[in-house]
This record gives sequence, structure tokens and C-alpha cells, in this order.
Amino acid sequence: MAAKSKSLLTEPGGYGQSRGELSVRAAEAGQQAWRLEQFEVEVPRRKLADLVVDEKTLVQVRAFLSKIRHHKVLYEDFGLAEIDPGGGRMAINLYGPSGTGKSFTAEAIAHELGRGLIRANYAEIESKFVGETPKNIKAVFEKARQTGALLFFDEADSILGKRLSNVSQSSDHAVNVSRSVMLLELDSFQGVTVFATNLMGNYDPAFARRILGHVEMSLPDAAARRRLWQAHMPAGLPVQLSEGDWRKLVRVSAGLAGGDVLNAVLYAAATAIERDGPGCRITIVDLLHAVEAGQKGKAAIGVA
Ligand SMILES: Nc1ncnc2c1ncn2[C@@H]1O[C@H](COP(=O)(O)OP(=O)(O)O)[C@@H](O)[C@H]1O
Ligand SMILES: [Mg+2]
Repeated sequence: MAAKSKSLLTEPGGYGQSRGELSVRAAEAGQQAWRLEQFEVEVPRRKLADLVVDEKTLVQVRAFLSKIRHHKVLYEDFGLAEIDPGGGRMAINLYGPSGTGKSFTAEAIAHELGRGLIRANYAEIESKFVGETPKNIKAVFEKARQTGALLFFDEADSILGKRLSNVSQSSDHAVNVSRSVMLLELDSFQGVTVFATNLMGNYDPAFARRILGHVEMSLPDAAARRRLWQAHMPAGLPVQLSEGDWRKLVRVSAGLAGGDVLNAVLYAAATAIERDGPGCRITIVDLLHAVEAGQKGKAAIGVA
């Protein structure tokens, strides 16, 4: 970082620029480089084949993928651009309760497309410093442009919401500015964007128009919960369950999401090793207790 700023400082600034202007420019360039470095490009590891969702959701995700993969043929060669001028949209919104696999899906989409993944937590982008949010938004799009990565906006509820028509405070004004910047960036961005939101909300129609589809990630039914439990018990896990135990697990975990299943397995394993050491066995009782603890935790924060 320091080295980069230094080389920018010694760059020729062009005719007629004062030293002051030069150093302001250098500082801005340094800041921009710093901003870009804040966003990491991850190699996605999750696979669509491992995602446990209902058929409807999977069909929607696959349709999105094929539209992206075949975009050129569909829109240029087949001429679909003529009947669907807004067809350049390559953004989707995944919505549903916490722990239902929205982040998993975003990663799996990147994996399927052979792209890197940039996770942009919207709450983090909305910087604590007034006036920085628009710069951060621009920077994350720039990073995605430079790297070809899929841009994943997690916790995007606030950004997709309606712009405020009655601006009473400067903070409201700032929100509107951020949303406008987001719209402009989305319009000029040729890459793939995935939003994740907990609520199917009150979206700004301007965003709704730019989003190809809204995909619901719902809480798993009994069959899906069984697959989720199985998927979260790796071969090395010291656990052996009877058919009756599996049924019990599936039954008591009604209303829980995949994320809760993950937490319950971690909790049960930690309990068992704490009790009996590395030679332990995880029992159905450990798992049932873990489910109960998870449910209590959810109830305590009011999401049950
Ligand atoms: N539909 C799902 N299929 C497979 N695993 C899931 C699913 N939903 C949740 N999980 C498990 O829970 C973890 C957390 O899920 P996550 O994708 O972060 O949920 P969300 O982003 O909706 O809050 C995942 O890493 C995975 O282990
Ligand atoms: Mg998530």
C-alpha cells in the first residue's frame, strides 16, 4: 500500500498542475487503491449439487444460470434483445429467512459459472463515515469489473428498499444518494450480481426492474431436513443413528433452517467431546439437546 502511494506521488502530473493538486490526486488514487483492496475475491467452493432446496427454487436458479451462460447466443444471435431490451439484467435476489442457504447459493452460482466471488456485506459498505458509502459502492463494482468476479450483496434489504420521497434529514438524503449510485452502477455493470435479503420487501421499482428474478429460499420441509442432517454429518463424525433416531431428528427440527442444522451438529459434537474426549460418540440425545438449545436461542432473540 505505502509503496503504491509513493510511486503515484512521483508520477508526472502533466502540464500546469501545482504540487498541491498533484498530492491531492495522489491521495485520491491511493484511497481508491485502498478501497479496492478492501474487497477480496474468493474462490467459491460450494456446489449447486450440494444445495438442499425444493425443486421450484432449483429450477429458478438453473434458469438464471443458463440465461447467463447463453446470454450472447440468446440476446445477440437469436435477437432476443429486440423484444426484451432490458434483457441485459444479470442480477437476482435471493430472499428468505436466515440460514436457508442464500450465501451458499450465491457461492454455488459463482462456482457454476467459474467466477470468483466478492462478498459485499451491505451493512459494512454503508460506511460509518458520512459520504463514503457511494465511493465504496463504486469501488466494489470496479473490483468486480477488474476481476470478473460475481458480486454478492449480502443483507441488501436497506439498499433495495424504496427511496425516500420525503427527505427530512441529511441521513435520509445520504440513503437516497447511495441508492442512486447503486442503480447507476448496476446499469453499467456487465457482470453478475446476486442480492440476498431476509424480507421480500417493499422494493424500489427501479431496483425491481433491474433484477431478473426473485428466488425464494424457504424453510426446509421434512424431506429436505433429512437431507440437510445427512449433509451435515461427515463420514468421520462419530455418530450412528437408527431409522427411528433419524425420524425424530427430522420431526423435532421442524421450523429450523439449514444453518440451524449446522449449528446443532457443531453443538452436539462439542458437547460429546467435552464429556468423553476424542473417543466420544455423539448420541441422539446430544443431537436432540442441541436442537432444543438452538430453538431456545432463536426464541430468545424473537425469530422462532
Ligand atoms: N439449502 C441449504 N442446503 C445446504 N446447506 C444449507 C442450506 N441452507 C443452509 N445450509 C447450511 O447452513 C449454512 C449457513 O447457510 P447460509 O447460506 O449462510 O444461509 P443464509 O445466507 O440464508 O443465512 C451453510 O453454510 C450450510 O452449511
Ligand atoms: Mg448469508
